[in-house]
Amino acid sequence: MLLSRNMFLFFTLFFTALFSSAMATGLEAFTTDGVVPDVISVPPKDILGVTYKNGVKADFGNELTPTQVKEKPTVTWDALSDALYTLILTDPDAPSRANPTRREFKHWVVVNIPGNQVEKGDEAAGYVGSGPPKDTGLHRYVFLLFKQNGKVDAGFQTPNNSSDGRPNWSAATFAQKHNMSLVAGNFYQAKYDDYVPNVHKQLSGH
Ligand SMILES: *[C@@H]1O[C@H](CO)[C@@H](O)[C@H](O)[C@H]1NC(C)=O
Ligand SMILES: *[C@@H]1O[C@H](CO)[C@@H](O)[C@H](O)[C@H]1NC(C)=O
Ligand SMILES: *[C@@H]1O[C@H](CO)[C@@H](O)[C@H](O)[C@H]1NC(C)=O
Ligand SMILES: *[C@@H]1O[C@H](CO)[C@@H](O)[C@H](O)[C@H]1NC(C)=O
Repeated sequence: MLLSRNMFLFFTLFFTALFSSAMATGLEAFTTDGVVPDVISVPPKDILGVTYKNGVKADFGNELTPTQVKEKPTVTWDALSDALYTLILTDPDAPSRANPTRREFKHWVVVNIPGNQVEKGDEAAGYVGSGPPKDTGLHRYVFLLFKQNGKVDAGFQTPNNSSDGRPNWSAATFAQKHNMSLVAGNFYQAKYDDYVPNVHKQLSGH
């Protein structure tokens, strides 16, 4: 009797520990991979779901290829239907993680998203896929979701064929300026592949 009760306790504790560590691994990656402090000062509390049309997902620093992320993904979170949100994709590793003199590069900004209807928000910076230059190693591509405190005017309107205002940007400064609070996040990493010249060509359209 006593033994089985101890066994029961043991397994309960064991699985609780296993479960919490599995939960922690995701958001902890923000710190272990240095997104904290390079982009934000504390990790988000919630997980942002990021899925591309081809089925690949951002999963706390997993490696994807520029080819896989050329089109904008579907992003999901637990939204309050009466709240407005801002979605950001940013690369702190411009032009490289070793020497990020143009940190951050702004890849996608959608403001005034009602609930989780991204397509109904205002796209202030059109989606640009990953374009890590050749021989610059892995870049981190960080998705951040902020809850707004009222409607905002992003202050820029950048199409997906323009690099205006994209380098040397800071998602955290932007969020602070507009009094937004971080809710959720996720990130993947990518290095050069032969799709990158297309991204660079797309951006030189302006
Ligand atoms: C750029 O945006 C336009 C719409 O504004 C869209 O038709 C086009 O597919 C986008 N290009 C890329 C490469 O995302
Ligand atoms: C980025 O900002 C730094 C200082 O904040 C400046 O020295 C540098 O010229 C800027 N680079 C670009 C590409 O704007
Ligand atoms: C900023 O947002 C918080 C809620 O997140 C709110 O309490 C505060 O009043 C806001 N401050 C300004 C200056 O709008
Ligand atoms: C860039 O995109 C904008 C808005 O979609 C469009 O008006 C403009 O013609 C495009 N420029 C080039 C060079 O493709």
